[in-house]
Amino acid sequence: MIWTGNGIFILQTGQTGYAFRTAQGGVLQHLYYGRRLPRTEDYLLAPVTLNQPGNALLDGGSCREDLLQEAGTAGWGDLRQSLVEVRLPDGGRACDFHFSHFERPASAAPEGLPAAVGGETLKVVLKERSHDVYLELYYTVFEETDVIVRWCRLVNDSAETVWVERLMSTQLDLPADDYDLITFRGAWAREMDLVRQNLEGQLCWSSSAGVSSNRCNPFAMVCRRDAGEEHGDVWALNLLYSGNHLGTAERSAYSAIRLTQGIGGLCWQLLPGSFFDTPQAVMTYSPQGFGGISRQMHPFVRRHIVRGYWQDRERPVLVNSWEALYFKVSARRVTQLARSAKEIGAELLVLDDGWFKGRSSDDRALGDWTADRKKLPDGLASLAKDVKAQGVDFGLWVEPEMVSENSDLFRAHPDWILGHRDQAIGRNQYVLDLTRPEVCRYVTETMRSLLYEADIRYIKWDMNRILGDTFTPSLPAVRQGEAAHRYVLGLYSILRELTEAFPQVLFESCASGGNRFDLGMLCYMPQIWASDNTDASCRARIQWGYSYGYPQSVLGCHVSDAPNHQTLRRTPLESRFSVAAIGLLGYEMDPGVLSADRRQRIREQIETYKARRRLFQFGQMYRCPCPDGETLTVTVAEDGSEAAAVHFVALNAANPAQHPLRLRGLAPEKTYRLANRPAEVRMKDFGSLVNYMAPIRIRAGSLVESVADRVVKLPADQLELTASGAALCAGGFWPVQPFGGTGFNEGTRLMKDFDSRLYFLSEVEG
Ligand code: GLA
Repeated sequence: MIWTGNGIFILQTGQTGYAFRTAQGGVLQHLYYGRRLPRTEDYLLAPVTLNQPGNALLDGGSCREDLLQEAGTAGWGDLRQSLVEVRLPDGGRACDFHFSHFERPASAAPEGLPAAVGGETLKVVLKERSHDVYLELYYTVFEETDVIVRWCRLVNDSAETVWVERLMSTQLDLPADDYDLITFRGAWAREMDLVRQNLEGQLCWSSSAGVSSNRCNPFAMVCRRDAGEEHGDVWALNLLYSGNHLGTAERSAYSAIRLTQGIGGLCWQLLPGSFFDTPQAVMTYSPQGFGGISRQMHPFVRRHIVRGYWQDRERPVLVNSWEALYFKVSARRVTQLARSAKEIGAELLVLDDGWFKGRSSDDRALGDWTADRKKLPDGLASLAKDVKAQGVDFGLWVEPEMVSENSDLFRAHPDWILGHRDQAIGRNQYVLDLTRPEVCRYVTETMRSLLYEADIRYIKWDMNRILGDTFTPSLPAVRQGEAAHRYVLGLYSILRELTEAFPQVLFESCASGGNRFDLGMLCYMPQIWASDNTDASCRARIQWGYSYGYPQSVLGCHVSDAPNHQTLRRTPLESRFSVAAIGLLGYEMDPGVLSADRRQRIREQIETYKARRRLFQFGQMYRCPCPDGETLTVTVAEDGSEAAAVHFVALNAANPAQHPLRLRGLAPEKTYRLANRPAEVRMKDFGSLVNYMAPIRIRAGSLVESVADRVVKLPADQLELTASGAALCAGGFWPVQPFGGTGFNEGTRLMKDFDSRLYFLSEVEG
């Protein structure tokens, strides 16, 4: 709900309130962002007149240095990071924007950029004091998910050119208090590491990689210092943008906090009569800690970011060829893989890298998107048919924004690359110059013909290097500061066209895993490959990081082989499954080379997953309390009738302290039956201890050991209990006693290193 009157603007969602007003001199004063308040006057308690000695005084004797504002500028006494910085025709940068008027447009979206779907919009227009330059602030309120989306348009109505040196999407000023900043940092294969810092001085979270990046995700939170998972005030910000981003957090000399978020490193020439739009920024507030934020962000992403045919549809279980074949692709191998995929119950076979003309390693062929006839003699259409004949759909990997020097495309258009020819290149490849319409057209048309050529139901859209040198010959020297943003605009234009033309193709975004995991990509593609790291232990942590801001319905999560290809660690197959199951399940391996026993186990995993697919993919996710080195994640069906909980323990301990597992999100008044999926207990897991029980002496590595391991079935721990949702959340349940070196029977839970248990809960009559 948006309420306006007497120069006051109140934006209310189901649980939150956001307010600002026009203060002295027409500056927009921010009043409040927090719990929804009962009366309009409740929002007006902030002071209007502030006087900071020695600083510039405005009309009415007030000073801006400590005033909470909606649109901070430089040069008029506000010393903090500003929302907008404009270089005016005389070279000066002091700007002063005053309230002009407001409108209530039916809808509004930044041009050429993705936008959240729905909501109620307010547009507030400010005018620069002495230039015909207008700053339009847009606010869209999403009532039921408690989210406010903000973005800005800068309009140059003057007769002279001005330069946009900074135009952030949002600014949030919070009153003096002790706060922490929480950001998500990392690198390739170790995305989304949570970093919590005291908010002092100036901090930032940003990417200058040309992509939103695995170095620092655009999602961040600010909380009061006493906030935790389920309590305390938390504000979260995110951006619908896939390029360079900048988030700033600072404490002023008077201890007020300013947050800004928008495009990073921009310098844009704004000609007379033109405008510049920022991407949309997402803001939400919860008094219920980080968990509260996730429970607002998840449905917001599911309902207002992800859209189209796949928005609410269950996603197929897939087998991806990358860790099965790498570049060793052949029609026979792919068809075999499709057959194995079908055998284990998968529904889609994704042919990853290595299928196109001349692509025998990662230093060639990007750009030449036709089948390699040596590997696939009958071409793609025929291969897709063969795959379909095995009983699974066909999906394909592409990396269309790139070109290898050793490719027909590069030989034909060496000038189509972004940056100079002698730039430092990543993964042996150049980035195509998507600032140029003819290059975008080529990419769109090539992908369009590929999708027409064969029955392709899924596309994995990869992007495997960062942008380095962003020089483009399409812009004059003074406008090179626009290139990185124009690249993103070019990319979005391609994605818009393709996803509109092929609405039923399931697109999965990927950038070496999570190097472009953001809300911008999610507006076009309903899911993202979360990380190249498929080690269950690392994945549990990475997915935990994503879960703060993103629902599991957008996370591609695969079970891979052991030892794992990124860490060489062996983790139990069951853990690899449990961790991947709270997400979009896939298998990144060749099931055909596994033992019959392993294949059967995987078949059962997929059956288990399919039987509760909606719960796994679209249930509301909760992070539950547990000691360091463990994670406990629960996903609960929308109506609370069922849930699944994954308890993952990194390292086993001898004689460990026992503790109950306290769940979250269950309906307190409902009664649930809880049972775990039977774990796999192998004789080999006991090593020489078996000789204590076995009638004969078994040597490690012997044939007898292998046979016994296969034949002897050891009992697995089985917990079954019935309890109310209230009890399972308040007191929790006690898992079966762990093995502690003093004997083993069905009443013992054998937890190896990196082991897990998957518990199912279903509602029963109380
Ligand atoms: C990236 C992706 C992988 C795989 C390879 C193929 O690293 O993240 O999943 O597709 O490219 O080259």
